[in-house]
Parts: sequence; C-alpha cells; structure tokens
Amino acid sequence: HPTVFLERTDSTNNEAKRMAEAGASHGTLVVAENQEAGKGRRGRSWSSPEKSGIWMTLIMKPEFPPFQASMLTLVAAMAVAEGVRFVTGLEAGIKWPNDIVVNGKKICGILTEMSAEPDYINHVVVGIGINANIEEFPPDIREKATSLYLELGEKVSRAAVIAEVWKAFEAYYDKFLENADLSSLREEYEAHLLNRGKEVCVLDPKGEWQGIARGIDRIGRLLIQQTGGGDKDLRAVDSGEVSVRG
Ligand code: BTN
Repeated sequence: HPTVFLERTDSTNNEAKRMAEAGASHGTLVVAENQEAGKGRRGRSWSSPEKSGIWMTLIMKPEFPPFQASMLTLVAAMAVAEGVRFVTGLEAGIKWPNDIVVNGKKICGILTEMSAEPDYINHVVVGIGINANIEEFPPDIREKATSLYLELGEKVSRAAVIAEVWKAFEAYYDKFLENADLSSLREEYEAHLLNRGKEVCVLDPKGEWQGIARGIDRIGRLLIQQTGGGDKDLRAVDSGEVSVRG
C-alpha cells in the first residue's frame, strides 16, 4: 500500500480526505511530521508537537455499509495497543471506545471520519495520533496525557511503532471482515479493555446514569450493567451518542 510522508499539513485527516476525494486508493497511508491544526474528537484540537509524535491517517474505501464504519475505530484501537505492546513492552490498554492508555494516562487518540451516502461509503479516514517521543505536556493535560518516551524512559523508533501498528491492523481487519463485525475480535478487545468491571458514568441525550462496564457487543457498543440492575440486565451504549467517564 502507498504511504505518503509529509513534512507538514493542517491535519492528516483533512489531507487524507482531500486525497480520497481526488482518487487515492484504499489502503493509502498519510503520515506527517507536523500538524498545524490536529483534530481530536468532539471538535477538540489535538496537540501535535513536531517530529516527536506519530500523526497518521489511513484512507479506506470499504465495501461494507456505513453503519459498520464506527467499528473500524475499535479495530484501530486494538492495533495500536498491540503495536505499542510489541515495540515497547508497555502494558497498553484500551479505554472504550478508542483511547489507548498506559499507566492510567492517554498515549493515543483515534479520530475516524466518514463520507457516505445512505447505503454506500465514499471513504473513511482513520486518524491515529500516538504520543511517541513527546518530552513534556502542557500543564492542563499533564495529568491525563503521557508519551511512550515518558513511560519507558527512552526514545522509541517511530518507524517501528508505525510498522507494527499497521501489521496488527491488517490481521485484525481481516478478522473483522470475516463477519463484518467484531464477533471474532470481541474477546481480545475485552482482554485489553480497561473499563471492564469498572464504574462508568454515561452521559446520553436523556441524562446521566451509572453502571459497571462488562464488555462490548459484536457491533462495538459498550455493555453496561446499570446500578441496581440485575446481571443479565445490560444496556448497550453507542460511542456516537454517549460520552463515558470513569
Ligand atoms: C481524540 O482522542 O480526541 C482523537 C485524536 C486523534 C488525533 C489524530 S493525529 C492524526 C489524525 N489527524 C488529526 O487531525 N487527528 C488524528
């Protein structure tokens, strides 16, 4: 698959979308040394210090229908966790749906964006930001964010991390395509799911409620046992509709 290396861009997601619209093929990877306007989820910005992070986006033109695309984020999260564990030996876990966490702090975020018709995907871009060799974070995010360098005490090879993440992604993506869902990946996702067995607070359009996260279903929704509810009484929440804290 082609890889495009850029010295700088606004956001690798934006660049990937422009390239996808201009005809770039499925599997094209865009990597940038510097993002001037890195984007996070929910309209937030993503701090992208130069030459020390891994800022990259995969262009996909899959055949499956649009509702399945959100699962790609979970597949990507598994690939990052696996790639990071393989290269660094650090215990990288997943905070549903798609944050990668080491020692309680975030080392990676994923932003998936799609252009689609009601029953057809034009393209999906899967953007991954890994705090690889970042030496210091601004005070406002120091409590929540960390880097591979800070956790490991030595610099990592960004090329090795990129290679292992995509190697893992290809293997997980093949499994995902078997059923076009997460049924064959669910167990492994849950094995690294940090929310599992933990109290979570869900903020959905109807209000706020608490429960214990038990796992995911085959389409990637988080299964929550509502406080006061029985063992079998699980509620499935969708990442697009809710914000999960805890
Ligand atoms: C989040 O956790 O809020 C998602 C962060 C996603 C950041 C990556 S960096 C590469 C790609 N380009 C962007 O502008 N954002 C994603």
